[in-house]
Amino acid sequence: MDILTHRDGPVLRIGLHRPDKKNALTQQMYADIAAAIAAAEADAAVRVMLIHGAPGVFTAGNDLHDFLSRPPRGADTGVSRFLHVLSRTSKPLVAAVSGPAVGIGTTLLLHCALVHAAEDARLALPFVNLGLCPEAASSYLLPRIAGYQRAAELLLLGEPFGPEKGRELGIVTAVVPAAELMEAATAAAHRLAGRPPAALRVTKALMKRALQPGIDAALEAEFRAFSERLDSPEAKEALTAFFEKRKPDFSRFG
Ligand code: COA
Repeated sequence: MDILTHRDGPVLRIGLHRPDKKNALTQQMYADIAAAIAAAEADAAVRVMLIHGAPGVFTAGNDLHDFLSRPPRGADTGVSRFLHVLSRTSKPLVAAVSGPAVGIGTTLLLHCALVHAAEDARLALPFVNLGLCPEAASSYLLPRIAGYQRAAELLLLGEPFGPEKGRELGIVTAVVPAAELMEAATAAAHRLAGRPPAALRVTKALMKRALQPGIDAALEAEFRAFSERLDSPEAKEALTAFFEKRKPDFSRFG
């Protein structure tokens, strides 16, 4: 199993566990996380979810082999189910981030209530550099959280950034030493889980009320654009270059 779930009292821990591929997410992994969130949603005893990777690696983002060989299409893919439940769950999510958090590894954080990042965390939104475009409603949420220019810098240049910058931008709640990450994130999840659950849920729903239509519209527009981008010669060049361990050459594209 590449996704490990573990009940810790009222907290459901969802662990990314594909160490040989830096926790790169396959369609099966997205489907498994979606199923775990849906099960947590239906289980009154679960009050909070805590998503984490391993020390030194949160996730390398979407599996790039999958992008080339089995590009996700339509509404019934693992990733679309994941994004649907992630953006709609009524229970708060906490994230613990160490090491690379690439692509969806950063965009999923925009849906979390509390994001604890280790000092070694490296966030990145490299969609443009892969010939792709943003997903997980990040084209809508990031400009709202960080402001247009700061979102544009992250999404158009796609350069990695550290946890302190993440905190300044409003994506990261707290930066902690790597050795203290899981303890800090677990304590935060349990603090949340100790709050009255119905009050937590209604407060999350009220905060999401005005945002949800924008999130839904962004997810739909991004799915369409992303699907087209996956077929583009730019994406083919970028993805092939990654596996050939060379720099991509975009000079021939107009
Ligand atoms: N999809 C599929 N395989 C991936 C992957 C991905 N997103 N990211 C890493 N891997 C694989 C590598 O191909 C390598 O496999 P191999 O051992 O069979 O050659 C293995 O995981 C280890 O990766 P490596 O690049 O050697 O690790 P690193 O510590 O030097 O770098 C990253 C880690 C995350 C910075 C780097 O792997 C990376 O940039 N990955 C791609 C990130 C990305 O663009 N994601 C898509 C976002 S939309």
